[in-house]
Amino acid sequence: MPTSKIAGIGMYVPQNKVTNEDLKQFMDTSDEWIQERTGIRERRYAHRTNETTTTMAVEAATIAIDRAGITPTDIDFIIFATLSPDYYFPGCGVLVQRAMQMREIGALDIRNQCSGFVYALSVADQFIKTGMYKNILVIGSEKHSFGLDFSTRGRNVSVIFGDGAGAVVLQATEKPGQGILSTHLHSDGQSAELLAMYNPGTHANHWVTNAVATYDDAPAGGMFMSKEMIDKAENFPFMDGPAVFKKAIVKFPEVIQEALAKNNLAATDIDLLIPHQANLRISQFVQQKLGLRDDQVFNNIQQYGNTTAASIPIALCEAWEKGKVNEGDLVCLAAFGSGFTWASALMRW
Ligand code: UT7
Repeated sequence: MPTSKIAGIGMYVPQNKVTNEDLKQFMDTSDEWIQERTGIRERRYAHRTNETTTTMAVEAATIAIDRAGITPTDIDFIIFATLSPDYYFPGCGVLVQRAMQMREIGALDIRNQCSGFVYALSVADQFIKTGMYKNILVIGSEKHSFGLDFSTRGRNVSVIFGDGAGAVVLQATEKPGQGILSTHLHSDGQSAELLAMYNPGTHANHWVTNAVATYDDAPAGGMFMSKEMIDKAENFPFMDGPAVFKKAIVKFPEVIQEALAKNNLAATDIDLLIPHQANLRISQFVQQKLGLRDDQVFNNIQQYGNTTAASIPIALCEAWEKGKVNEGDLVCLAAFGSGFTWASALMRW
């Protein structure tokens, strides 16, 4: 049976750099607080109207496809991970298919937030291994800046996130030992509301808080926002930061160890760990817990902030461009985030 390998990788970040100092004009925060608690120095924000989650994805995908030595018409399937889609529906996968003039191939959107890219890679891996598809385009892209609370009320969340996109082309390889060795996916919905955007949504509270009433007397309810929801900031992401942090530092090492154990490998065998760029302190904690040297872990949250589903492909792409990923290297990807969901992928480059 073939395994799947990354045949091409690309990334795109918007031109617009936003420093911690820049954020001070909107909210009560400081460069010192942000750097000390998160490691972030700056992030990128997409152009308000000319750049979307999809346009950034297309930029990254164009590079990935080119580096794979193929053309958009060679792509057999698209998997798109994002929590900030252009439309509520349809998803961004079909928008990429249209923009890149691909054949009438399947397009799947993944809603797994920070773990989205690893989930997407895992799905793609299954399709390649079974021989169903030859070239799969896997994308993580986010335009967070469109929907953050830039008042002091939302500062614990808004200073963290940035915009950008990363993409890979996954292909089959017959070379023994090369490619994705295993992927590991997990979730625990008990904490779904600890990192979430509640509205607009179809959950029960939507109707209760709106008091629009029941289906009987509100046959045309619609997906709207009440003043109460907006006053409670339910149209912005909510995060119980410390609770997420505590869980993340347990689940990151756990899911990495799971991948290593599955392949009879140890942390010392890892050439490069690319953790989801959630918080530099989380990455450092994971590094310490696994006993990894600095050169075994790649972080770039300092420049781009947390780009959720895009953070791993952006970091992997940058590491590869810097010559830190070479043939035969053991590369580990790991993520944790909203859901909670967490995941890892171990591959031999
Ligand atoms: O990628 C998805 C998964 N997400 C994560 O893994 C994120 C995990 N959590 C975190 O990274 C951290 O919890 C945060 C960076 C979000 C927050 O850091 P923290 O050290 O946990 O801070 P905190 O939320 O406990 O807040 C500490 C203080 C509070 O003030 P008081 O109550 O102590 O007076 C906050 O109001 O820091 C205040 N604060 C800020 N101050 C200046 C919160 N945000 C800011 C800010 N600037 N931006």
